Amino acid sequence: MAALHPSFAGEVDLLAESQVETLLRLLKPPQGARMLDVGCGAGRHAILLHEQGYELTGVDLSPQILRQAQAAWSARHGTRPAPNFVPGDMRWLPVEGPFQSIYFMDMVLGVFPDDESHLQCLRSARALAGPGARLLLEQFNPFYWAHNSRTLHFGPGELLPDADVVRRYKYDPGRGRIDDEIVVMRAGGREALPTQTLRAWTPPELRRLLRMAGWKHVRFHGSRGWEPPEPGRPVDPKDSVFMWVTAEA
Ligand SMILES: C[S@@+](CC[C@H](N)C(=O)[O-])C[C@H]1O[C@@H](n2cnc3c(N)ncnc32)[C@H](O)[C@@H]1O
Repeated sequence: MAALHPSFAGEVDLLAESQVETLLRLLKPPQGARMLDVGCGAGRHAILLHEQGYELTGVDLSPQILRQAQAAWSARHGTRPAPNFVPGDMRWLPVEGPFQSIYFMDMVLGVFPDDESHLQCLRSARALAGPGARLLLEQFNPFYWAHNSRTLHFGPGELLPDADVVRRYKYDPGRGRIDDEIVVMRAGGREALPTQTLRAWTPPELRRLLRMAGWKHVRFHGSRGWEPPEPGRPVDPKDSVFMWVTAEA
């Protein structure tokens, strides 16, 4: 998807800026702290935080997307040292701790078909957490999605410059997953991308998983619609598209 267009890769844009503002209010890293971006993608959050003087490491499975992250940094800062972008699998994070802040943005936690793999990711992150370190997860709120399975149409220029894109999000209560089907329509024909499917835990389920991985003081923060959450705002079953979850080592 990232190869199709930068908007799929996650650009450094106004949304990323406002997410980083909220992330800093929740994680409260000391100035210059070591921060770990798990599944960093094209680096939109890592880049903004590194610019603010934090020491960023970003891990992602895709070397191709990490090259995009590096290029995005170089376009902004030339040869100034970039965040440390490392290829690897988040179940076995291939970096050395300790980190004061660790975060998984944009439903990165949720990609695996089984909870055991997600637990492994949370354990791997916990092993890299320094004393008092904080964790942040951006997740879908399953209650919202249960009521809002929907089809979105993006005209040419909205997601892709030369094509219509139709995305259908559908929550499956039996699997506790949101399926995101994407169809790209160009003059030459129609192409269905592989369906993305993401686990969407209820708060008690996710609290249990986090505790099993050794994380404490789990808190949920609800978004107002599609905006980044306000710290401390309860998750509204009908209105919060996202819930951001914090925990401590
Ligand atoms: C939706 S993107 C989010 C990227 C970034 N966090 C952001 O908000 O822009 C999900 C990312 O997770 C990465 N990913 C998927 N499976 C992974 C794994 N097992 N280990 C590490 N990264 C993974 C993908 O390559 C992709 O870049």
